[in-house]
Amino acid sequence: MLKSVSRILKENNNQCHPEFACAERSRSIQGSFNMTNIKNVGIIGAGTMGSGIAQVAATAGCNVKLFDLKQEALDKAKSSLEKIMNRLVEKGRITSEEQHRIQENISYVSSLKELEDSNMTIEAIVENLEVKQKVFQELEGYVDDDCIIASNTSSLSIASIAASLKKPERCVGIHFFNPAPLMKLVEVIPAIQTSDATLKISEETIKNWGKVVAVAKDTPGFIVNRVARPFYGEALRIYEEGIADFETIDRAMKEVGGFRMGPFELMDFIGNDVNYTVTETVFAAFYFDPRYKPAFTQKRFSEAGYLGRKSGRGYYQYDAQGKIISRHAELDSASHKKEFSTEIFERILVMLINEAADALFLNIASAKDIDNAMTKGVNYPKGLLAWADEKGMDWCVEKMDALYNLYHEDRYRCSPLLRRMREKNQSFFK
Ligand code: NAI
Repeated sequence: MLKSVSRILKENNNQCHPEFACAERSRSIQGSFNMTNIKNVGIIGAGTMGSGIAQVAATAGCNVKLFDLKQEALDKAKSSLEKIMNRLVEKGRITSEEQHRIQENISYVSSLKELEDSNMTIEAIVENLEVKQKVFQELEGYVDDDCIIASNTSSLSIASIAASLKKPERCVGIHFFNPAPLMKLVEVIPAIQTSDATLKISEETIKNWGKVVAVAKDTPGFIVNRVARPFYGEALRIYEEGIADFETIDRAMKEVGGFRMGPFELMDFIGNDVNYTVTETVFAAFYFDPRYKPAFTQKRFSEAGYLGRKSGRGYYQYDAQGKIISRHAELDSASHKKEFSTEIFERILVMLINEAADALFLNIASAKDIDNAMTKGVNYPKGLLAWADEKGMDWCVEKMDALYNLYHEDRYRCSPLLRRMREKNQSFFK
C-alpha cells in the first residue's frame, strides 16, 4: 500500500513545515511513474555499500548493473558476492538455483552509459559533493526522464545533490546501513525538490526489497546519525568528567539498559576515526549546536591511531581475532554499584529520548519511523519514544531539567515537545 503524503503529514502531527514543501511535492506528481517499472537498477560505485545494495536488489529479482571506475573494485565485488552466496547455500539459506539466479541478475559494467536502461539508479561512490554532482549530471544525459536517481550519501544534503540535475524532482536519498544485505533499515530522504511520485516509488521499491523504510527530512544525520549522537557523546562526557571508566559505562548500558554493545565497544567497532568524523560533520552542519559537540577524548584517540578493533587498540585492546583482551576484574555488584549503573544509564537514555523527541518536534520523521530507525537501524532494545512513554513525561522533563540546572549548558536543554506533552498529559503512542 502506498503511503500518502497526507499520511506522512498525519504521522508528523499534521504539521506541514514550509521546508517540507508538501504543496510543491503533491503538485508535481508524475503520472508516468509506476512501481512495477523498477526492474532495471543501476548501482554506481562497487565498494562496501554499492556491492551490498546490488546484492539486495538482485536478490529481490531486479536486473542490476553495477558500475565502478576501477576494474579491481568490480572484480572484488564479484568475488565477494560469490563467497557470500556460497556461504548462504552451505548454511541452507538459499538453494543453488537461487544463488545462480541472484548472481546472474548482476552484471558488472565499466562505463556509466551502460546504465542507460535503468528505472532507478543508486549512487554509492566517494562522499564528495562535487564528484557526486558530476556523476549525476553525466548520468542524466543517458537515462530516461522517469528514471529515479538516488544517492546513498550519509552526510551530504540531498538538495545539493539534486540541484545538479535538470530534473531534480527525480532525485532522492536512499540511505542503506552497513552491511546493506543484513541491516533491515533504509532511510528514504526526499529533498525539497523531490516529487511525491519519486518518494512513493522509492519507498515501495525498498519495501519490496524486504527492508523497513523510515522517511526522513533532508537534515544533517537524517534520523539515525542524529538521534544516536548522545549514545556516544554523553558516554564520553561522563568519562571526561571522571564519573566512570569506559567499561563501567559500557556495562551500565548493557546490563541496565539492555543494549547489545556499550558506547565504547561500539565506537571501537565502528572505528574512532569514522565515528569522530560523523560527529564533527553533524556538529558543523547544525551550526555548532553544543548538543552535538565532539569530545576531545575521541579526537585524541583518533589522532593517536587508537581506532578500535581495526587497529588492535581503541578504548579496549583487542587480540588478532578482534576479541577484547583487557577487561577489568568483574565489577562489584553491590547495590550502590547498581544504583551508580542506573544513574549512568538513565543520564544517557534521557539524552537519547530528548534527541528523538526533538527530531519529532522538528518534523524530521514520524514517531513510528524514529522508533523503527533506532531499533532496526542500530538495534536499540526499544524505540526511544516508546521508552519515553514507559518512563513518563514527568521523568523525562525532570531528568533533563536536573542536568540543565547542574551544568547550565545549552547541551542539556529539554525539548519543547517533551515539556508540552507533560503539560497536556500526553504520550507518543499510548
Ligand atoms: P567505498 O570506498 O567502499 O566505495 C566507493 C566506490 O566508489 C569505490 O569502489 C570507488 O572506486 C568508486 N568510485 C569513486 N568515484 C567514482 C566515480 N566517479 N564513478 C564510479 N565509481 C566511483 O565507499 P562506501 O563505504 O561504500 O561508501 C559509499 C557511499 O555510501 C558514501 O557516500 C558513503 O557516505 C555512503 N555510506 C557509507 C556507509 C558505510 O558504512 N561505509 C553507510 C551508509 C552510507
